[in-house]
Amino acid sequence: MSQLFEDINYIENPLYEQIIEDIIAQKYAIVEDFFTDDEVQLIRQSLIEKHEEDIFKKAAIGNRVNEIIVKSIRGDVILWIDEAHTNAAESLFFNKINSLIGYLNKTCFLGILRKEFHYAVYPQGTFYKRHLDTFQNDDRRKLSFVCYLNEAGWLPENGGELVLYLDDNGKEVEKVIYPLPGRVVIFESQILEHEVRPVINAQRLSITGWLKTR
Ligand code: OGA
Ligand code: MN
Repeated sequence: MSQLFEDINYIENPLYEQIIEDIIAQKYAIVEDFFTDDEVQLIRQSLIEKHEEDIFKKAAIGNRVNEIIVKSIRGDVILWIDEAHTNAAESLFFNKINSLIGYLNKTCFLGILRKEFHYAVYPQGTFYKRHLDTFQNDDRRKLSFVCYLNEAGWLPENGGELVLYLDDNGKEVEKVIYPLPGRVVIFESQILEHEVRPVINAQRLSITGWLKTR
């Protein structure tokens, strides 16, 4: 038996393996059970409480230093999450994220050394026009991560779809993803253009973040 398989630290994780396989094959992965229902409820509650404190800011184009607010491009409001000062829901969130990062670094040599995450609320009528996440002046962003925190029963009529623009042998195809609670989407930040379609008669809740190099 090889050294690798005797190492008790090497435990294959089927969920993470599936994510890696999907990202390699199609540049994105959709995971329905990254967080349990109870965990989603807890994280959703944390978002709602902070949103009620009125500390969310209008999201900007550009990076954290060079903020330009352009409502014709994006209309969400966000709150960055500080990993050094987390509540129970947020530390549960980061535990899972850190476990995924550890696995990616061990098995894929991705060199993810940094991360940043924010809560996002898209009020009724808002959207985020087609873009690339490196558009935020940050070429260290490798993987984009979105976790939806909506109530169960999000209807197609509520809009708010994430649309990934994929390349199918030179032909552009749209992958439409509804923001269903607990659903996680991970995709290659530097490659996949995407947009959030207008939200209709609802508020769209999520955590979005990036796994970064250097
Ligand atoms: C973003 C983004 C997608 C989503 O915040 O950059 O593209 O589905 N979010 O919320
Ligand atoms: Mn984006």
